Amino acid sequence: MKIAVVGVTGLVGRMINEVLVELNFPYTDYIPVASTRSVGSELVFDGKHYTIKSIEEALELRPDIAIFSAGSTVSLAWAPQFAAVGTVVIDNSSAWRMDLTKKLIVPEINGSSLTKDDKIIANPNCSTIQMVMALAPIHQRYGIRRLVISTYQSFTGTGAKAVEQYRIEKNGGVATEQERAYHYPIFENAIPQCDIFLDNDYTKEEMKLVEETKKILNDDQMRITATAVRIPVDGGHSESINIELGKPFDISDIKNMLMETSGVAVLDDPRTFKYPMPLYSKGKNDVFVGRIRRDTSHDDALHMWVVADNLRKGAATNTVQIAQYLVNNQLI
Ligand SMILES: NC(=O)c1ccc[n+]([C@@H]2O[C@H](COP(=O)([O-])OP(=O)(O)OC[C@H]3O[C@@H](n4cnc5c(N)ncnc54)[C@H](OP(=O)(O)O)[C@@H]3O)[C@@H](O)[C@H]2O)c1
Repeated sequence: MKIAVVGVTGLVGRMINEVLVELNFPYTDYIPVASTRSVGSELVFDGKHYTIKSIEEALELRPDIAIFSAGSTVSLAWAPQFAAVGTVVIDNSSAWRMDLTKKLIVPEINGSSLTKDDKIIANPNCSTIQMVMALAPIHQRYGIRRLVISTYQSFTGTGAKAVEQYRIEKNGGVATEQERAYHYPIFENAIPQCDIFLDNDYTKEEMKLVEETKKILNDDQMRITATAVRIPVDGGHSESINIELGKPFDISDIKNMLMETSGVAVLDDPRTFKYPMPLYSKGKNDVFVGRIRRDTSHDDALHMWVVADNLRKGAATNTVQIAQYLVNNQLI
């Protein structure tokens, strides 16, 4: 089992390394890949020293699995070339997510749709993954009609440049145009723009929540609207979700269902101040759900608050779980 990690020096790439070790991924060869900026430098993985390779060198080594986490441009250019030599690419970027010929996978929800023919597998957006983990069991039993989502997303979701902008501003500096990941300061701010604006005045991140959720939950009819906000939190995305169901529901049934969902942890006791928060989701692979309550303005609706470590279940953990699923089910 030869595994390559493309974008290994990035925020997600480094977390993929941690998760591969933690989840005991059964590799024989490990191939770290980054841009020309990092090629040739040393990296320690699982207690051993490795030299970072170029993507061309990695392709020649024909890995069994390549986890791509180096942005859409790299994925669009290189994933098909790896697939052509028999590598299964698990891609963290948005390059293939809405491609009708590619599967968008959260293993707990739709892993069983994978086959040996899937050579490029898309990993959903971080804010989508944590949300669908909490929604999938509810949708299966009650049928979700409409979602109204507001997100409070960590700057780490934007990558290393945003972390640097935050660090400069937190230390009292002003980030130069080259150093800035955002148009505005992120420290002590809330920016109602995640990714670029589209023709419909939503941002790309908001439309990812809409389109990716429909694809993963396999329901084109679901009505979804979202506002995505970037906040100065160092790791962990939070989401307020209003969910309208297709039939009457029992709130304790919803809570019980979520408690029984693998990968989801319910933290919900307002009287003892128990609810999920990004600070406490950090370093954990689970998705945390709390503030589960009836919507007093609508008979068939409820609210919930969903928090997860965006670099883990939102990115690294989900990709490694896809790789594990392929191995465990002899799909590779
Ligand atoms: N951050 C998140 O929460 C999150 C969540 C889900 C998905 N994602 C997606 O995951 C990807 C990576 O995100 P990130 O936050 O880790 O970004 P990042 O911190 O900016 O890291 C980017 C990585 O890509 C590498 N890279 C850039 N150009 C390359 C090339 N031509 N060939 C090989 N490697 C190249 C960089 O290497 P150098 O260090 O050598 O430049 C670095 O390792 C993006 O597509 C992002 O949308 C991120």
